[in-house]
Amino acid sequence: MRTFDIAIVGTGAIADVHAENLRQLAGRAKIVAAVDVDAGRLAVFADRWSVPNRYSDLDTMLDRESPDVIHLCTPPWLHRDHAVACLSRGHTVFCEKPPAQSLAHLATIKAAERAGGGRFATVFQHRFGSGARSLRRLVGDPRLGRPMAAVCNTLWLRPDAYFAVPWRGRWETEGGGPTMGHGIHQFDLLLSILGSWREVVAVATRLARPTATEDLSCAIVTFDSGAVATVINSLLSPRQTSYLRFDFEHATVELEHLYGYADADWSVTAAPGHDEITAAWTEGLTGQPSGHATQIAAVLDALESGDPPPVTITDAAMTMELAAAIYASAFTRAPVARGEIVMGSPFYARMNGSGAPWA
Ligand SMILES: NC(=O)c1ccc[n+]([C@@H]2O[C@H](COP(=O)([O-])OP(=O)(O)OC[C@H]3O[C@@H](n4cnc5c(N)ncnc54)[C@H](O)[C@@H]3O)[C@@H](O)[C@H]2O)c1
Repeated sequence: MRTFDIAIVGTGAIADVHAENLRQLAGRAKIVAAVDVDAGRLAVFADRWSVPNRYSDLDTMLDRESPDVIHLCTPPWLHRDHAVACLSRGHTVFCEKPPAQSLAHLATIKAAERAGGGRFATVFQHRFGSGARSLRRLVGDPRLGRPMAAVCNTLWLRPDAYFAVPWRGRWETEGGGPTMGHGIHQFDLLLSILGSWREVVAVATRLARPTATEDLSCAIVTFDSGAVATVINSLLSPRQTSYLRFDFEHATVELEHLYGYADADWSVTAAPGHDEITAAWTEGLTGQPSGHATQIAAVLDALESGDPPPVTITDAAMTMELAAAIYASAFTRAPVARGEIVMGSPFYARMNGSGAPWA
């Protein structure tokens, strides 16, 4: 089996999750280089994970190393420039969410991918557990029937102290609040199951946290299929949960977890007379939890078979367009259709468009 050489850029909190999940892949990947501008963090990380080559800047690492995959674990405001630097040298990039701060930045990354020959994948690890895969396989199956209604709740709690990290809570560095940084995990999973959305009506507000961004947003999303979902993204919720509910014609499918799920976190309730869906659902469960290891394995599988590694820019773009539309609808107090936010729109250039109403 091939061993992939990995470079990690940004050795903060999430980098340890990447390193631990790479370790779980038992020899399929090894970290050959790490980059951080903070020498102390770099040393602690590289010592902990026995990383041989350490760099204080990305360009020097790119001059001297040739990793198979570069994991971008830097704050969101650096994703575009770091991705472009890697892609323009033909490297494959596995970038933490959000993939970019705006639709404009994502388009720049897409152009660099096309020109450089490398591939760009976004970390949206909740698409990859066997529960999500099982449900995606059943969408369109007459035993499940049409999707009708959905609920997508990211009800998390982040105290004021969480925002002491300088890049958090600011439009210029984080790109947005819980819509871009937290709920995006859940509504990315929602979209990966229900497919293309067509219109959103939303509210966003800042109620309590010392941020420039929102700390709460709520949206009603209509899909091409006609299904309608409510989406709430909160950092103000003492009983924390990540909850998705899908009401199809013949069954309700629910997922409740916080930061990662196993098969047992899903449940299916068949409508009267439709018990056959329960067996169909269970057949798809293979015990794979959601998490970075599951997605990284999928990325390496794709690279081995020559396929685009998931989640591709096209797939991530639908999620980013929904984030942009939630802000646009909330700030302009109007419904926003998919495809409406294009170059020239203030919400294409930045998620807060021409400015948050509370600024
Ligand atoms: N997928 C998930 O579940 C998940 C969870 C948490 C965070 N994240 C994402 O991971 C990213 C990083 O978050 P974090 O919490 O690890 O942040 P962090 O602040 O803990 O770490 C970021 C690191 O990047 C380093 N850095 C800053 N500028 C750099 C530069 N120019 N070159 C190299 N390194 C540089 C910092 O010194 C720091 O060590 C964010 O995009 C965040 O949204 C994803």
